[in-house]
Amino acid sequence: MDSPPSCELDQTKSLPTLSRRASAPNLVSMPDHTHQPADARSRIPHVGTYRRVLPVSLERMYENALDWAHLPFLHASSFAAIECLEAGSSGWRARVTSQAGVVSEIELHLDRHIRRWITRTLEGANAGAEIWTHAFPIAARRTDIVVDFFVPDVTADARAKVGAALGALYERLYDEDVAMMVERQRELDRRIDGGRLNETMVLGRRDALSFPLEIEFRGRPLIVCAATTAADAPLIVYPARCPHQLGPLSSVPVDGVVTCPWHGYRFALATGECLTGSACRLDLWACAEVDARGQVVVRAKS
Ligand code: FES
Ligand SMILES: [Fe+2]
Repeated sequence: MDSPPSCELDQTKSLPTLSRRASAPNLVSMPDHTHQPADARSRIPHVGTYRRVLPVSLERMYENALDWAHLPFLHASSFAAIECLEAGSSGWRARVTSQAGVVSEIELHLDRHIRRWITRTLEGANAGAEIWTHAFPIAARRTDIVVDFFVPDVTADARAKVGAALGALYERLYDEDVAMMVERQRELDRRIDGGRLNETMVLGRRDALSFPLEIEFRGRPLIVCAATTAADAPLIVYPARCPHQLGPLSSVPVDGVVTCPWHGYRFALATGECLTGSACRLDLWACAEVDARGQVVVRAKS
């Protein structure tokens, strides 16, 4: 990735007094969300600061920052498309198309030593803008982030308005990111915890069930659905979690294909194959059949 940052935050300046209420007993003066005014001394105009305490670990935050591929899926209301030009363990560079059709080239550079990542717009709309994010772990799964927005060519009068707009945008983006990170953490924990090893699981009479149906079998979440709308259509069982990063595969399959909402991977339910080019595939390790009494029984494939 590119060279070191071109502007410096004044690390000696303390943040302005925080105004919103604390959300947990151990965070007496720390708000969950706050917006700070511009700092007029920056070389690139500083238009505001967004601060928030997130219920996730630093590890999940780094993973999220490096995850360029989720932008047009999880944040579909902001981004229409992304083309990765370069990616590695310390960042990425990509051509991004907004929902308004505006194309820009963006890079993100992560520096783990100082728990900071900088997002720069290299070309296109808002070229020269920089967003600096500092992360402060305050518990195993609680991270305080401070996000500073620097936007070139903004007059002093307009800074507050531009900063407020960016703060509102980041509020929404982080709402979406937090939902994904919390859910992924829950699934990672569940994988470690494991579950009971039942030989089979009876779901009930087929004509009383509505598909797709999410179940837990052998400690793993599965989805049972019918291959077609016919009353006697074969049943398909597949993991309820995406093999990429454990996103929820709970959307209704279309033509035998299920799509993950986090990065848009599509999987063929007949084979488990990823149709969007990834090497990962669904592990179709369980199946469901209707027994002589009309009951749907799930079991592991032999
Ligand atoms: S978690 Fe990434 S595509 Fe499903
Ligand atoms: Fe995100």
